Amino acid sequence: MGIGSDIPRVEGPEKLRGDTRYIDDIRLDGVLHGGTVRAPAARGRITRIHFDPSVNWDEYVIVDHRDIPGPNEVAHIDKDQPALVASEFRHRHEPVVLIAHRSTRALRRGLQSVRIEYEPLPAITDPWQKLVPELIQYGDDNVFKRIDIRKGALEAAFARAAHVIEGRYRTGAQEHVYLETNGMLAYQQDGRLVVQGSMQCPYFVLKAMTHFFGRPQEQLRVIQSATGGAFGGKEDYPSILAIHAGLLAEKSGAPVKIVYDRGEDMAATTKRHPGWVRHRTAVDADGRLLAMEVEAILDGGAYSTMSPVVLSRGVIHATGPYSCENIHVHGEARLTNSSPYGAFRGFGVPQTEFAIERHMDVIAEQIALDPVELRRRNLLRDGQTMATGQICRDGVDLVALMDGGLARASYAERRAEYARTNGDHPYLRRGIGFSVFLHGAGFTGGGETMLASELWVEGRADGLVEVLAANTEMGQGAKTVLMQIAADSLGLSEDQIVVAEPDTARVPNSGPTVASRTTMIVGKLLERACRDLASTVGVDGPSLPGAIRAWHKANPSQRLIGRAKYEAPKHIRWDEATYRGDAYSCFAWAVHVADIEVDLRTYMVRVCDYVALQEVGKVVNPTMAAGQIRGGVAQGIGWALTEDVVLEDGAMANTQLSNYTIPSSADLPPIRVFFEEQPLPYGPGGAKGIGELPMDGPAPAIVNAVCQALGTNVSRIPLTPERLMAHLEGETDG
Ligand code: MOS
Repeated sequence: MGIGSDIPRVEGPEKLRGDTRYIDDIRLDGVLHGGTVRAPAARGRITRIHFDPSVNWDEYVIVDHRDIPGPNEVAHIDKDQPALVASEFRHRHEPVVLIAHRSTRALRRGLQSVRIEYEPLPAITDPWQKLVPELIQYGDDNVFKRIDIRKGALEAAFARAAHVIEGRYRTGAQEHVYLETNGMLAYQQDGRLVVQGSMQCPYFVLKAMTHFFGRPQEQLRVIQSATGGAFGGKEDYPSILAIHAGLLAEKSGAPVKIVYDRGEDMAATTKRHPGWVRHRTAVDADGRLLAMEVEAILDGGAYSTMSPVVLSRGVIHATGPYSCENIHVHGEARLTNSSPYGAFRGFGVPQTEFAIERHMDVIAEQIALDPVELRRRNLLRDGQTMATGQICRDGVDLVALMDGGLARASYAERRAEYARTNGDHPYLRRGIGFSVFLHGAGFTGGGETMLASELWVEGRADGLVEVLAANTEMGQGAKTVLMQIAADSLGLSEDQIVVAEPDTARVPNSGPTVASRTTMIVGKLLERACRDLASTVGVDGPSLPGAIRAWHKANPSQRLIGRAKYEAPKHIRWDEATYRGDAYSCFAWAVHVADIEVDLRTYMVRVCDYVALQEVGKVVNPTMAAGQIRGGVAQGIGWALTEDVVLEDGAMANTQLSNYTIPSSADLPPIRVFFEEQPLPYGPGGAKGIGELPMDGPAPAIVNAVCQALGTNVSRIPLTPERLMAHLEGETDG
């Protein structure tokens, strides 16, 4: 019972039985199936939309930008993205016309029978393309967000350096490949427009709908349906889909469902931002970091969507878990004419931590110091400051954590063995590499204060306690964890707790399910709301259900609600203008070790063994926590080695699981997961967020291992066999 116990996932059995109803499984009488006609090129101006006259268009509901009731804007952080193209389109597959029909077959025929004629406009396919005035599409210079983090005196430190080491690192886009593709249903009910579907953040969708339809919240309702994976890919995109389904439902007066197939989902929805990171590092004669200059450029795609905050998290983590007094990090998210890149597990950090952890190995090699020793001399200790000036006070001994991870992987023995035996085999080479990294939980800087999340727990007349939160189960285990936390706080067993369906008509805005915040930030609110409930009733523990029933007898037809609202920890300070202060209330810390084999006949890299050790404050559910880590490592292995998003005309061209290769179980090593626990007061029972952490470490650990095995310096992922072959044969890997 409670925090730390291994209760089974509450919604697991219904998923195993196939009883869970995802949005595509929900049948409604008279439902129409909606689909999207999309822009045919990277950039252009529509001259004519041609509807094939052999189709009886009277059978269809057709929506274009002229049907939009309010501003043609999808409200994310900025409002630069239209819901439907009016004239100029900015990326291939941008939505232009929506159609709906009772039959899915007729829908497909209809979609094939609309042709968009256009005048091409000059497009940007690479964020490094030289800008000429015709290419400017956002602000003065196509930069969605620019961030500088400055600490100390950079050039003075470079002037006294014993060594200056430079490196350039490049990371690719990544597709989420959630098992369930995006889908949304819209209908009218009790005078409200209701949307229901696969999503992470019901209140993000509600905010976008409120803005777009120009209606008060009370006339709109957003319900999350069972969600088959998201990984960040259902953070902002569902807002567009909800608007589309809502427009079709409003015009037709019928319920409308839009469900993407895999190809459409891969081509049109968000992906991880491609990244370019440059390091210039000053090191003293003992291998201590004197100065770090970092430039991180993200390809944001055609609209700003989440790019400003992805960049923010990326640059804050760009100097890794190291102490350095002189830092300049410069970051930019730039426009290109691709589908907007968006949230994906890690949110900018995998890109920058790949660069710093690969760069640390490059520094070690160039100054002839062991990579373990280099890190030992530079890992942050409590009382030292991070890039933003945040004082490290998590109480974690990072050197001990690193040593612990390496010991579990027999790193020193294997490294020595591979160095000795690597020439013996005709074509197989072994290598072992590692990464040390961190991930801040919760929104960055003042984000949590701005969200002002609110959560309720209701003592119901039947004596059960219901958690009323907007946070969503998407396969990560949030529902089970919230039950455990409530049970723990109230001294009840899990079967006395109910978690409400995230429905904006019933639950308060406890914030989005993103940023590794649910267990830590929302869980802490839940703990406080439970105490509020218990104090109203006057008891907790086994007598609570009886006391709740008695309260209802004494207070007929009233609601018994315990509440909590976010309050920032007292010592947290953040200045958004200068990027100084406490970027996160705390961090989770990890060391990952990858043992790999390269086959020089095929240039395939196989991960043979993997150790993941992380300090996470407190493990709430050991089996599910280990599952989170294994899943993140698997995604990290894919991003490092095989998942290559091929762009043509700015759009993903390989939109099938046969040509976009995610790891299967046969490609994965044993992933050996270990936890350390140093509880901090920011999360329930001391827990920190772990959802994104395991995505950050695998790529550098694996590429460091490959470089050790082959005695080479690879700086770009995914390290596909083709790319490794080109690299070893001396072609540039640009
Ligand atoms: Mo996330 S990548 O913060 O949904």
